[in-house]
Amino acid sequence: MLSGLITMRRKLVAGNWKMHGALTQNAELLDAVRSGMVTMPGVDCAVCVPFPYLAQAQQKLSGGAVKWGAQDVHQLDKGAYTGEVSAAMLRDFGCSYVIVGHSERRAYYGESSHLVAEKFLAAQRVGLTPILCVGESLEQRESGITEEVVAGQLDALIQLGGVQALRNAVVAYEPVWAIGTGKTATSAQAQAVHAFIRQRVASHDGKIASGLCILYGGSVKANNAAELFAMPDIDGGLIGGASLVADEFLAICRAGART
Ligand code: PGA
Repeated sequence: MLSGLITMRRKLVAGNWKMHGALTQNAELLDAVRSGMVTMPGVDCAVCVPFPYLAQAQQKLSGGAVKWGAQDVHQLDKGAYTGEVSAAMLRDFGCSYVIVGHSERRAYYGESSHLVAEKFLAAQRVGLTPILCVGESLEQRESGITEEVVAGQLDALIQLGGVQALRNAVVAYEPVWAIGTGKTATSAQAQAVHAFIRQRVASHDGKIASGLCILYGGSVKANNAAELFAMPDIDGGLIGGASLVADEFLAICRAGART
C-alpha cells in the first residue's frame, strides 16, 4: 500500500469466458447477469466473450449496467492479417474492455511482453480499456523470481508506451498456478504482488500508481472474493470459470460492491 497516495478506486469485476459459450446458453447467462446487476452501483462489471458472441453481448447488454469486451486484439490497426481482429472492430461492437497478454496466450501462442504491450497500446488508441495480464508460473514462484517476472511484463509496456499508458488503466495479476486450478493465491500472497506492482508504477508516477486498477485473477469464487477484494491493493477480479455461472458471477460482483 502506498501511504499518502491512497485514492478511492472503483472496483471492477470482469468475466473471462475463454473459449466457452453457445448462443442459447449465452442468452440465458447474459440476461441473468444483466438483470442481477441493476442494484450494484459501487462496482463496474463486464464480461469478456469470444469474438463471435460480441454482437450478442452488445444486443443483450446495451443500456444496462454490465459492460462487455473481448479476450484478445491485434496490435495493428488494419491490414492483410487473415483471422485477426483489430481494436476498431471491437469498438464497432461496443466493447469497453479487451484482455491482453493472458497467460494462456503467452504460453500457447508465444506472445511476448513486447507484443502484449503493442496490443495494449492498439486498444487504447481507439478508446478501449485494455486489461494487461501479468503473473508468474509455479516454477518461477518457487525459484523466488515472482517480482522479477511481473516487473518484466509491466516494464515492457512502460518502455513502449511510457508510464502514462497506465493512466486509468487496468492490470490483472494472475499467478499461472492459480488459473483454473482451484488453488487461489492467499489474500496476503496476492496483496504482496499487487503492492509490488503499484510501487513499481509509483517509481515512475505516484498519481498514476494510486489510480491504477489492479485486479486479481486465479480461481476467484463467490466464497473467496470478499476476502481478496478487502485487501488494500486489490481492486477487483478477473474471473474465469465462475463467470460462466450467473449466480456465482453476481455474488462476486456483490463482493466487489461491498468492499
Ligand atoms: P479462473 O480463470 O477464474 O478460472 O481461474 C481466471 C483467468 O484465467 O482469467
